[in-house]
Amino acid sequence: MPRAAAKRRAAASPGPQRSVAKGRPRHHLLVLHGPNLNLLGEREPQHYGRVTLAEIDDELAARAARAGVSLTCFQSNHEGDLVTRIQEARTSADAIIINPAAYTHTSIAIRDALAATGLPAFEVHLSNIHKREPFRHRSMISDVCVGQVVGFGALSYGLAFDAAVAHLARTQAQSK
Ligand code: DQA
Repeated sequence: MPRAAAKRRAAASPGPQRSVAKGRPRHHLLVLHGPNLNLLGEREPQHYGRVTLAEIDDELAARAARAGVSLTCFQSNHEGDLVTRIQEARTSADAIIINPAAYTHTSIAIRDALAATGLPAFEVHLSNIHKREPFRHRSMISDVCVGQVVGFGALSYGLAFDAAVAHLARTQAQSK
């Protein structure tokens, strides 16, 4: 179990604990993709490019292997499924990288779930939402995220991943 998640679980429950693996603690990152991102590669390439979601997840997996962290990627077209995965991350992940897609602009439920976990969250967008239609300029989740990466296409995910790993290393060093 990731170190931070193990600590949270130990604090939350007086019951028997699963033992923490010996050796170097591995951080675990959860990557969440919102609605219509399963269509990347064919969907509005002028905004989102030609890279598919599978290629983005593969690239993140390669970065994770190099950084010595573990990673789970999940896409859903359903708001409630994303909320459930965020809630579950309380005991299974150390940080969340999230592109809520259209839910960015509407979902108080996703925002509240991120706030409830207290996990560091990193907001990602392929396109620069601030350069597009006015309804895309507002993000419901920005104020509960460590930061936002927008406008670099598929690379936005890689930059957010690097930021998340650096953030975890820094907070771990500070807690020693
Ligand atoms: C998006 C931007 C959103 O406005 C849009 O609804 C998406 C994708 C992006 O990655 O650029 O579906 O989150």
